[in-house]
Amino acid sequence: MTPALGVCYYPEHWHEAWWESDAKRMAEVGITFVRIGEFAWSKLEPTPGDLQFDWIIRAMDALGKHGLKVVFGTPTATPPRWMVDKHPDMLAVDTEGRRKGFGSRRHYDFSHLGYREEAGRITQLLADAVGQHPALAAWQTDNEYGCHGTTYSYSPAALAGFRTWLEARYGTIDALNTAWGNVFWSMEYNRFDQIELPNLLVCEAAPAHELDFRRYSSDQVAAFNAVQFDILKSARPDLPVIHNFMSRTSDFDHYDVAKTLDIASWDSYPLGHLAVSDEPEELKHQYMRQGDPDNAAFHHDLYRTVGHGRWWIMEQQPGPVNWAQYNPDPLPGMARLWAWEAFAHGAEVVTYFRWRQAPFAQEQMHAGLLRPDSEPAPAHGEAMQVAQELKATGIDGVVGKARVAVVYDYQSEWAWEIQPQAKGFSHGAHVRALYSAFRKHGIDIDVLSPHTTSFAGYDIVAIPALFAWNDALRTAIETFEGQLLIGPRSGSKTQDFAIPATLAPDLPRNMLDLRVTRVSTTDPVHQTPVKGGGAVHHWRERIETGGEVVIEDEDNQPVLVSQGKLFYLTASGNKALVQRVVDYLIAEADLPVLNLPAGVRCRVRGGFRIYVNYGAGAATLNRAADEAGYVVGEASIPGAGVTVARLATAG
Ligand code: GAL
Repeated sequence: MTPALGVCYYPEHWHEAWWESDAKRMAEVGITFVRIGEFAWSKLEPTPGDLQFDWIIRAMDALGKHGLKVVFGTPTATPPRWMVDKHPDMLAVDTEGRRKGFGSRRHYDFSHLGYREEAGRITQLLADAVGQHPALAAWQTDNEYGCHGTTYSYSPAALAGFRTWLEARYGTIDALNTAWGNVFWSMEYNRFDQIELPNLLVCEAAPAHELDFRRYSSDQVAAFNAVQFDILKSARPDLPVIHNFMSRTSDFDHYDVAKTLDIASWDSYPLGHLAVSDEPEELKHQYMRQGDPDNAAFHHDLYRTVGHGRWWIMEQQPGPVNWAQYNPDPLPGMARLWAWEAFAHGAEVVTYFRWRQAPFAQEQMHAGLLRPDSEPAPAHGEAMQVAQELKATGIDGVVGKARVAVVYDYQSEWAWEIQPQAKGFSHGAHVRALYSAFRKHGIDIDVLSPHTTSFAGYDIVAIPALFAWNDALRTAIETFEGQLLIGPRSGSKTQDFAIPATLAPDLPRNMLDLRVTRVSTTDPVHQTPVKGGGAVHHWRERIETGGEVVIEDEDNQPVLVSQGKLFYLTASGNKALVQRVVDYLIAEADLPVLNLPAGVRCRVRGGFRIYVNYGAGAATLNRAADEAGYVVGEASIPGAGVTVARLATAG
């Protein structure tokens, strides 16, 4: 599919007389897709059963008249007020046991079966009403599952659902007591209907209890999505069903939800995401107006896998947002750069959020492509430039399989949130640190799910901070012939959240003769220097091993151990150490690297290599041996600039 641009549009916010001229202007920018509908329930059904669909069909007519294709969002993230009167117990309950109120959005409880049915009902009605519209090109289910902390609800509906789910999982209460370790502290249950949710306890719940509640809650998100997917696919089997996921959101298993999606998409707000992240202040200052140079790319690669190879940006930041502590203006050029970077990683469509800045309500300080007075805002021109460049270069093709992969696992995120042992220890942070270290060298990376059964074709695979092995991953690592990096903390638990009988990393001795015998953690300030450069901090394992020690710290403790092509990392490292480990693996695998200036990143798509400069100042690219020349920009790449090289041989 040829890459295309889109925009989010809310016809219900504007006079009907504007719809046509808006559509005409969108087409002039070079926009192809327009997402509508996802928050419009109170206008589509103002009172129960009073269906008012004519206006949105007229909006689709106006868009279609100008050649625009519609992505129709089901409005289930914003149930109207009357719905709460009808189902007062559909409101989610927080950990403190307080019911959430009406007056913003996402106030529903995923476990509430009455609301799930209502969501199915409006989806079916919309599929019937607009499903055959000639402008319709795709569906979006709901909006940003889990946004505003809405995956977990501690309601009676969740409690009832959880008990049923546990009974189906364990069969007998004895099996549950054993799996959770309930003999500890006399926590044993006699019956499933005695089990409570893991909130409002005196101190922490058993970790397996917590983990099962997260697994259960994740399953509810998947079940909620499946209802809409089935309806939409039976109405239009030919149209893709998409959901818009988010940055650094791991409350539910996205791989599972995507079992009922054709395409994954995500909403990219690089400045807001960096501002609200726990990245160091130094990085926040340096990239305040550009965003973290690796965060968007990581999510592009993640969602490509979540979406079975197909993914979009459903919302792209166009200017200042309204939801971080401070909301700076992107550097001129960033709205173009972010789109190009997404296309480089295989995006089919990049959709800007939103067409016109709203003068009213919660997001009136959030920029759009147009100002509230309908004059073009800076991103308007940048979007137009991207559309022209896409046309001129004819960039196309898919992203090929990378030579390096890193495994990302939602369950591991939950496990270490439940039992961090070192404040802030997270699976995702370890994955992203490795990802960035490879990317610094211009290496393309795939993100793999923990259900991958074969790593064939990769030169290097990394599995950091993995909670527990499963059958798929065991098969994948046992048959892998490339360099494999495991650890720290990987395989340190069973699926029941217990320490494995043979201790971490729970691998056969012939694969890796190594046992973790003790773990100590410290605050990030207390670092132990490593011989040859870098430091370990936060997480440190003592091991017994028959493997070869490749790197050790200044206390003579092994840091990187190898056995054949398997490498085990015993600690969380600072940036310098992670880079050293990655560089060592790259050298062992003899992978080609690029010499990128600081702040510059790149990715190959089809026959092109796309360079983006996250730096504020100009940089000069070193022409790579496989490049035939530049089709956008040149070797001197300005701050927030883009250069596209054509490859001599298709990548
Ligand atoms: C997203 C959301 C949009 C809008 C946007 C503002 O999280 O899907 O509806 O609120 O943020 O940046």
